[in-house]
Amino acid sequence: KLDPGELAHVVSLLNTTNNPNVLVGLETGDDAGVWHLGDGRALISTVDFITPVVNDARTWGRIAAANSLSDVYAMGGAPLFGLNLVAWNNDELPTELLSEVLQGGLDIAEKAGMAIIGGHSISDPEPKYGIAVTGEVDPDLVLTNSGLQDGQDLILTKPLGVGVITTAIKAGTVDDASLEAAIESMERLNDEASRVAVSAGVTGATDVTGFGLLGHLGKMAKASGMNAELYVDQIPFLPAARQYVEDGIVPGGTRRNLAWIADQVDAGSFSEIDLLLLADAQTSGGLVFGVDKDKSSDVCAELEELGVVAALIGETDSGEGKISLR
Ligand code: CO
Ligand code: CO
Repeated sequence: KLDPGELAHVVSLLNTTNNPNVLVGLETGDDAGVWHLGDGRALISTVDFITPVVNDARTWGRIAAANSLSDVYAMGGAPLFGLNLVAWNNDELPTELLSEVLQGGLDIAEKAGMAIIGGHSISDPEPKYGIAVTGEVDPDLVLTNSGLQDGQDLILTKPLGVGVITTAIKAGTVDDASLEAAIESMERLNDEASRVAVSAGVTGATDVTGFGLLGHLGKMAKASGMNAELYVDQIPFLPAARQYVEDGIVPGGTRRNLAWIADQVDAGSFSEIDLLLLADAQTSGGLVFGVDKDKSSDVCAELEELGVVAALIGETDSGEGKISLR
């Protein structure tokens, strides 16, 4: 994964299109592209693929698929169909293992009501898997990075710490409870969170993935012309995430995230451990969105009833994209 700063630079070199059918394109750094079909219909298009984050092939397939679908939900849409993207090491890995990975993808596709209608594979020393997903969204109800409004509560729908836990897996030091909680969180779709957000009239949302909560919220705050205040004590983390960070088990991506976002964050009296946890690079993380204050407790209750870990983690105020921790 590229640095947030590097990526923004590379994308800025691309010619942007002024095709009137493009409702959401490259300019806003959003989660997915949105294409207006007319007659109140729009398509969402997104692609994501990842290297293995767990040891079990089918579980990795499920996580990669849920991760690929997340950007559709982050835009307020529903998936229609997908194309598998596979990089596979034919010399070292049996094809039965690849079948397991793809079966994991199908498990999740089925859960999401999405058809897999094709795909492409290449040979590669390091395996990668993901799905190019096409979805549908009501063009008037698209959730974007620039849609946060003044004086809203911020809701997060999954615990943080996946990057740290998957690094502990690679180091061979992960404990069972953290592993299980991380897998359950990564396999979970953001479909319910998305539907609840849309029906509560939310306009600003994103999913927390490679750039961490601080990175994605920082991008969203900037694009929306808002500052964000975070209530650090209210933010949920996976079981041993803090302990691992204290032990120095921190993914390189998380450190790069923090270095990139640091200027935008007023950390108050919080430590580097806290900041690393908040910047942790997530795979298949939850949604973060802004909701009007009179609706936020209902939204949290509704999500919790669905089994979603929903937490009110902060609020917005008009500004230039600063995040302050308190
Ligand atoms: Co995203
Ligand atoms: Co993505």
